[in-house]
Amino acid sequence: MAPDNRIAICPGTFDPVTNGHLDVITRTSAMYDKVIVAVVNLPWRKGSTVFSTEERVGFLKGATRQLANVVVEPFSTLLVDFARQRGAMAIVKGLRAISDFEYELEMNQLNRRQDPEIESVYLMASAKYSFLSSSGIKELATFGGEIDDLVPSEVASALQDRLGR
Ligand code: PNS
Repeated sequence: MAPDNRIAICPGTFDPVTNGHLDVITRTSAMYDKVIVAVVNLPWRKGSTVFSTEERVGFLKGATRQLANVVVEPFSTLLVDFARQRGAMAIVKGLRAISDFEYELEMNQLNRRQDPEIESVYLMASAKYSFLSSSGIKELATFGGEIDDLVPSEVASALQDRLGR
C-alpha cells in the first residue's frame, strides 16, 4: 500500500504499557487521522517478556479505548514492512533523555535503510514521564513499590499478581 501521511504507527514492546507510552499515543492521535499502536510479538533485543503478546495488546486496547482513531495490533515482521502493509508514512516514538537517543538513532538508520519512504518522528517525553520506563516499573512492582500513578490500573494489578513478592 502507498504510504499515507495521515496514518502513523506507534511501535513498541509495551511490556507493559506505561502512562508515558499513553501520553505519546494520545499526542500522536491528535496529529494524525489514524494511529496504529504496533506491539512487537517477539522483541529481538529484549528476550522474553513478562506479559504475552495477547496481554500486552489487551492492556493497550483497554487504555486507549477512549481514543476513537487509535487501533492496537500485534506484528511479527520488520517494523517498516508492517508500516507499509498498513499504509503508514510515519513511525512515531517518544524520546525521554539522551540515553534514548543512541538506541533510537540506530533504529532510525536501520528502518530508513530498509524503507526510506517511511519517516520516523520523535516526540519529547512530557516532563512528568521523563523518568518512566517499563523496566523501572517492573523493578518497582517486584519489590512492592508504588506504581498506581504510573500505569493503567489493570496493568498495576496484573504486575502485582505476576511479579509481586
Ligand atoms: O522501544 P522498543 O520496545 O525497543 O521498540 C521495538 C521496535 C520494534 C519499535 C524497535 O525494536 C525497532 O524499531 N526495530 C526496528 C527493526 C525491526 O523491524 N525489528 C523487528 C521487530 S523486533
